[in-house]
Amino acid sequence: MRHFLNTADWSRPELQAMIDDARTMKASPMGDALRGKTVALLFLNNSLRTRTSFDVGAQQLGGHAVVLSPSGGMWPLEFEDGAVMDGEAEEHVKEAAKVLSRYCDMIGIRAFPKFVDWQEDRKDKILNAFAKYADVPVVNMETITHPCQEMAHIMALQERLGSLDGKKFVLTWTYHPKPLNTAVANSALMIAAKFGMKPTLLCPTKDYILDERYIDQASKDAAENGHALTISHNIDEAYDGADVVYAKSWGALPYFGNWEPEKPIRDQYKHFIVDEEKMAKTNNALVSHCLPMRRNVKMTDAVFESENCIAYDEAENRLHVQKAIMKAIVR
Ligand code: CP
Repeated sequence: MRHFLNTADWSRPELQAMIDDARTMKASPMGDALRGKTVALLFLNNSLRTRTSFDVGAQQLGGHAVVLSPSGGMWPLEFEDGAVMDGEAEEHVKEAAKVLSRYCDMIGIRAFPKFVDWQEDRKDKILNAFAKYADVPVVNMETITHPCQEMAHIMALQERLGSLDGKKFVLTWTYHPKPLNTAVANSALMIAAKFGMKPTLLCPTKDYILDERYIDQASKDAAENGHALTISHNIDEAYDGADVVYAKSWGALPYFGNWEPEKPIRDQYKHFIVDEEKMAKTNNALVSHCLPMRRNVKMTDAVFESENCIAYDEAENRLHVQKAIMKAIVR
């Protein structure tokens, strides 16, 4: 049994095989690989794309999805081993994982960080608890990384560019009124490096540099492909000659749990928006965002509506790659 928790756990050829299968299913969507199978999708946070694409994908393969969320009537869960459960939680994750495994053939988990203590959040306790106790494969539907988004992004890039080897990939921090999860940023940097692109992380200051776990993984993968990860705070240098621009906002890790002083810092960098002037410095780059996205805050309408924007393709590809992932791991 193999879980799909992080693309770092899978080799590039294994991931490419899933993307190739996804491309086949994009041309011919219906199948029976999940006939008689049920997937449980546990959402502790909001979703439009992930929830819909997993549900539709399971149905297109002859399977069935059960969507669970605490706001939808599920028992509140305890995730700490050895906890004295005299608080809000009515059920331990061990029972939830074991019992769901008796009914279902896969468990998907969405559990964002709590944004209070990054050292706690980076343990990814909820995802790892399900992976530890479940007797069926577990899929990360976004926790502190977002591997399904990575797969959809690479598929969309390959559809437009073919080989990605040696392409300049820029992950740019963008402004957002709230501090957001670093999951998609961590993921974007790692998958770009793994698939042979030359990755650049553009962010306003050193406080916005991502966790060393993901910087190290991206650096290692880039080195294996003969490249180096560049970290830049210079917009002109980062955009210069870029082949791909990926926009994402995230909160600065040193301010987790104490966001008040981070807000005035973040407010100074509204000019990191992806706009036509910046895109003109690139090598006619493709541009994308995982969505949902605040228009004219993270990216201008003109850039988002341009031919170079592949955000809708990437969103569509969530359906196809997740079907391929489910086919690969559900037995
Ligand atoms: N990109 C993404 O995961 O979208 P949702 O949050 O709507 O699922």
